[in-house]
Amino acid sequence: MTEPAGSTGGIDALSNSGGPVWPAEGWSRVPFELFCDPHIHELEDERLFRGPHWSYLGLEVELPEAGDYTTCYVGATPVVLVRDEGGALRGFVNRCAHRGAEVVRKPRGNARGFTCIYHNWSYDRAGRVTGVPWEKGRAGVGGYDASFDKSEHRMQPLRVASWAGVVFGTFSDDALPLEDYLGPAIRERLSAVFARPMMLTGYQRHTIRANWKLLYENSRDFYHAPQLHKFFGAFGIVQPDQQARAEMWHEGTHCLLTIYQDPGAPRPRIRLEEPRVAAFRTALPDNIAISIVGIFPNCLFTLIGSAFSIRQFRPKAPDRFEVHYTYFTYADDPACLREHLFQNNQFGPAGYVAMEDAEVVEKLQARIALGNGKGASLVAMDGTDTTPDRIDHMVSEANLRAMWKGYARFMGFAPPDDPTAGPVAGRPER
Ligand SMILES: [Fe+2]
Repeated sequence: MTEPAGSTGGIDALSNSGGPVWPAEGWSRVPFELFCDPHIHELEDERLFRGPHWSYLGLEVELPEAGDYTTCYVGATPVVLVRDEGGALRGFVNRCAHRGAEVVRKPRGNARGFTCIYHNWSYDRAGRVTGVPWEKGRAGVGGYDASFDKSEHRMQPLRVASWAGVVFGTFSDDALPLEDYLGPAIRERLSAVFARPMMLTGYQRHTIRANWKLLYENSRDFYHAPQLHKFFGAFGIVQPDQQARAEMWHEGTHCLLTIYQDPGAPRPRIRLEEPRVAAFRTALPDNIAISIVGIFPNCLFTLIGSAFSIRQFRPKAPDRFEVHYTYFTYADDPACLREHLFQNNQFGPAGYVAMEDAEVVEKLQARIALGNGKGASLVAMDGTDTTPDRIDHMVSEANLRAMWKGYARFMGFAPPDDPTAGPVAGRPER
């Protein structure tokens, strides 16, 4: 499970391998090494995905009935989320307690229990062993000896908790309570969005040939939105002068990014034969045009107009990760559903907006990998500090710097202003 706080094993190994060293300029530089070093990729699995952080697992609306289940990954670890007969949500590692085979083989469904195909060990909805073939032997021979107690065996559980119907899991006993982990701004936003009954509208997934952190960073990067995403400007959805805000939490690694509606009329530069493709109807009675909630380390929750999506990140290698989308809308709002179906194509593998982000991070990765990760990116807009936990305009990279500082802290990397400091590990201080 989690390394005890203060353990330096992984960091020592990294130091011995020569990295990482944060550039002396500080948090306004991000070493390219972070995006291509296999040691860092492994350490992320230990320190972030299996460390004291909560990872998004699914939505309660996906699991309305007892026995409903869905599968996902927390970092490299395959996980099953199930609703048990008492209505509680259970999570466990999808690995047989006998020999380690995959047990749950469908991505989602409903089941009374689960059976491993190899030797047919069976499990209940909480992942506890309920049946072992030939446990007492057969025809008077073989079987397990009297000391074998199948109730002592189970698939490894993880802690599960939810807020406003959004379900998270952690392997660590040191993770903060989920409410504290999410922080007030994200709690309030999720509660506002999920205040009405939701309806699932579908799933999509794709592989991006880049490091997962490039897209996580991209999600809070105001600067690129009007530059890269011409769709926004062409149809008057986002102008660079619109009011915007970023609120950070969890040492800067979470970010609630809000772009408010333009108080003037939309200023589209192009008119379409089917205007609903770029129509803009907000789902909530507020003046927010776009909100993007980044919940470190694996979740992006996006609302553009009335189109909702959740992206779950599944890192596979330093230069490859999968993005799994879950789409949903309000069950009690037919107009919202109709608009959602048109606006939905901003996300996903071929989304007007998300496709550009996926392509751009692949282009970054290809160049970052040149020279074995030597060099660093520049995030120096709006000063070089990381102090604010809130910024109120789009012309800034302060929230990117805050993210990298928090990431470095959780990974145990020495800060650039004090390279002699020992590694920091374990639970964040508040
Ligand atoms: Fe983008």
